[in-house]
Amino acid sequence: MAQHSLQDLIIKALAAEDLQLPAFPSVAMQLQQAVRDRNTKVADLEKMIVGDQALASQVLRVANSAFYKGLQRINTVQKAIIRLGIRKVAMLAMAVSQRSLYLSRNAQISRYLEKLWQHAFAAAQSSQWLANHCGCRAQADDAFMAGLLHNIGQLVILRVIDELSAHQQLGSDRLPENLLDELLNSNMHNAMGYVLLKRWNLPDEYCVVTRDHHRESYDGDNMLLTIVRLADQACEKLGIGLRSDPNIALAATPEARTLGLGEIVLTELEILLEDSVAMAG
Ligand SMILES: [Fe+2]
Repeated sequence: MAQHSLQDLIIKALAAEDLQLPAFPSVAMQLQQAVRDRNTKVADLEKMIVGDQALASQVLRVANSAFYKGLQRINTVQKAIIRLGIRKVAMLAMAVSQRSLYLSRNAQISRYLEKLWQHAFAAAQSSQWLANHCGCRAQADDAFMAGLLHNIGQLVILRVIDELSAHQQLGSDRLPENLLDELLNSNMHNAMGYVLLKRWNLPDEYCVVTRDHHRESYDGDNMLLTIVRLADQACEKLGIGLRSDPNIALAATPEARTLGLGEIVLTELEILLEDSVAMAG
């Protein structure tokens, strides 16, 4: 099939009225409510996480990773909550609950999804870290979620391609990578992500970040957006995700200037990002 007709087919599928969007994992829904409810107790959160064996083991793996290094190995979810705090564990659980959305039987798509997942996880960690280092501590949880979800439109695009290829509608198992890269990096991922987050009824702040994170002119007063844009560029500098540009000078970006972050802090951020790739799993 010619590349342009392949592209047309994918765009048509994405624009279809009956497009099946991925579902927000049900445990993530419960966690989202728990994070927003200030009365959530350790036992409530623990019950939610241990109810899902795969989730519990992933939370423990991340809690024991280099980023949260402690003196003793954490072997129960309860200990993880005591060591890291209820909010941090809820956020980590929310992140790893999305992991299953990034799996495919198609080897080529699976490789792309792996990169998307590493990028989502690294952007979440670094956005949270940036919020804590630029005087926006109160927004650290939102920064984590907005970072985690900002590129979710790419997931929608890959899921649609996966579906078309599973039904042999694309003519070949392997798709031209230049076509995939073009589709995934186009503005379509911003629009698709915005639609998905609205469908999931997530807060408007996250939807705006997803929609505007590549816009040339953006609202510089929106701290959440500015933080995620900087985290995104830091990932790109280190090649975490689909884009790679080692020449990006983070300290010279308008985002770093707005947030008042200099070379030293941004070098620390790069070290944190290198750790987060191993942590994403
Ligand atoms: Fe993006």
